[in-house]
Amino acid sequence: MIVTMSAPVHVPALLNEVIAGLQVRQGGYFVDCTVGLGGHAAAILERISPSGRLLGIDADPQAIKMSQDRLADYGEAVTLVNDNFVDLEAICERYHFHPVDGILFDLGVSSLQLDTAERGFSFHLDAPLDMRFDPEQGLAASDIVNSFSEQELAGLIERYGEERHSRRIARYIVQNRPIATTVELARLIERALGGKRARIHPATRTFMALRIAVNSELQNLEPALQQTPNLLRPGGRLAVISYHSIEDRIVKQFMRCAATSCLCPPGTAICRCGHVPTLKLISRKVIRPTSLEMKSNPRSRSAKLRIAERLN
Ligand SMILES: C[S@@+](CC[C@H](N)C(=O)[O-])C[C@H]1O[C@@H](n2cnc3c(N)ncnc32)[C@H](O)[C@@H]1O
Repeated sequence: MIVTMSAPVHVPALLNEVIAGLQVRQGGYFVDCTVGLGGHAAAILERISPSGRLLGIDADPQAIKMSQDRLADYGEAVTLVNDNFVDLEAICERYHFHPVDGILFDLGVSSLQLDTAERGFSFHLDAPLDMRFDPEQGLAASDIVNSFSEQELAGLIERYGEERHSRRIARYIVQNRPIATTVELARLIERALGGKRARIHPATRTFMALRIAVNSELQNLEPALQQTPNLLRPGGRLAVISYHSIEDRIVKQFMRCAATSCLCPPGTAICRCGHVPTLKLISRKVIRPTSLEMKSNPRSRSAKLRIAERLN
């Protein structure tokens, strides 16, 4: 049975911290690289209107449709584009949208995607194993589950899911293929792990790993971040919310590297790298949701926000 929950609500994570960190103000120009259901975008538009502009990007055509409806009142102040942020510079070029005052990434998956059964992201809702942000692009989760070798599956589940039992899960998958649906896979993982009691459902980590692989989430992030300094005006801000430790490491390393004045190996007497810093770190420490936010919005629990500013 396919169940679609009506009108999914996505509560934007770290909203006040994002608005403050991006220094959102009247007349500003902002890019939301992951517009989703338009939660952060609506809060930005409210503060930049009437003369400011927002360019919203999402790889998911359904998210673009829903944010179009939600943000319709802002008229020409908002432009929504169904595309992948890996092509950020080209997208901004196409819409003559640069230099800008701020760029936001709120990575990962939205409530719309998780709560719409037929998208195949949730092990609670039975549907074909899909998990693509853009349902027209690339491999679905079922292609990976049914065609990757046992070693490839174990590696992917261990790396992206940080799952201790990755080899056991991969062995069960390969022994029980083909696997067509979310619930079939979730039950198989429950059997593989033998009903061990855990804080989270035994399939959580494997589903996260498959989603990250299906959408090349880690591969797209670094090249997209690299394009941001060129698009920001001096003093413009970059804010990135991540939900996964590898993602956060990519963001941290990118910002540190862009903010450092020399990339020569430690101990080098005379700098020869010629590296020119483009960003300044605004938050040296990662910004986390308050316990109140985590309680009222459990999906924010793993959120980590980092902010940097474009140098002159
Ligand atoms: C956490 S949600 C964003 C929610 C949004 N901030 C809000 O308040 O409604 C992440 C969104 O990023 C999109 N996304 C993930 N990777 C993407 C990529 N490489 N290019 C474009 N959109 C992407 C997903 O489709 C999803 O809609």
